[in-house]
Amino acid sequence: MSANVDMARCWTEDAGPGWIAERVRLDERLEPLGQFLIEGLEPQPGESILDVGCGTGASTLKIARSVGGDGAVVAVDVSSTMLDAARKRPDIAEDSSSAPITWITADAQTYSFKEASFDAIASRFGVMFFEDPVAAFRNLRNALRTNGRLTFVCWQPPALNQWIAGGADELGDLLEFPPPSEPNKPGPFGLCDSTRTHALLDAAGFTAIEIDGVEAELPFSGTVDDMVTHQLSIGPIGAAVRAGGNDPTLRGAVRKRLHQIVGDRAESEGLAAPASAWLVRAQK
Ligand SMILES: C[S@@+](CC[C@H](N)C(=O)[O-])C[C@H]1O[C@@H](n2cnc3c(N)ncnc32)[C@H](O)[C@@H]1O
Repeated sequence: MSANVDMARCWTEDAGPGWIAERVRLDERLEPLGQFLIEGLEPQPGESILDVGCGTGASTLKIARSVGGDGAVVAVDVSSTMLDAARKRPDIAEDSSSAPITWITADAQTYSFKEASFDAIASRFGVMFFEDPVAAFRNLRNALRTNGRLTFVCWQPPALNQWIAGGADELGDLLEFPPPSEPNKPGPFGLCDSTRTHALLDAAGFTAIEIDGVEAELPFSGTVDDMVTHQLSIGPIGAAVRAGGNDPTLRGAVRKRLHQIVGDRAESEGLAAPASAWLVRAQK
């Protein structure tokens, strides 16, 4: 039986389209944590790097620029819709100062990457969704050259990342929420326990495992209305609205309430929000 079927469907048909619609805002918000990824990865000119769960391609683009025209980047994602959006990015330009990018639609847990073909593997929030993380990390390790690096960022627990819920707890009377993403189960918080992550990577054969907490204030340069649209498209609020069939009356009621919640918060705190991730580094 194929692995990760539900997650592939989710990122292709359900969560993916909302993420794509909000790509520009998500890229802005995730940029500070993406910067930790690049600093931890330490890409060198001419290197060959695999970006796992590349989504709409923000990290892929940065990696391609950082290894330069003599480098090579492969970007893999299980969602064809996310990859289509990545390929169509207006800022993807093949030029001599940026590595060529090969896009692959596949499950990184099971895909047969060419053995020992990458200097490094990177991921910005794309490796927490595997049904069998040890099998997935073992498969990725196989694609690394001897001493090759694995570097990724993943979320710390939900309590330290309340921006993801976006005020969902104040909408319980309007929306029926799907069960929340459970820590240590495939989903955004799948690797939120650093002790477990260390053990998973060790079991997959990695050495020199280092896991450091990184924090950032996620910027948001849009208006309150933009933030309401953002939250209606992603995370648990987006999921609950879609589960409600995108009913216009329901959407309107949620939008109105969210305006109040987001507007009140913006007055006291602004629209930026704190977030906490793990920067994980390991070696083959
Ligand atoms: C939270 S998004 C992050 C996207 C991108 N890295 C970014 O930071 O903008 C997670 C991505 O991981 C991808 N993904 C989930 N499971 C995967 C798997 N088994 N193999 C490859 N990609 C996967 C999803 O399709 C999605 O595009």
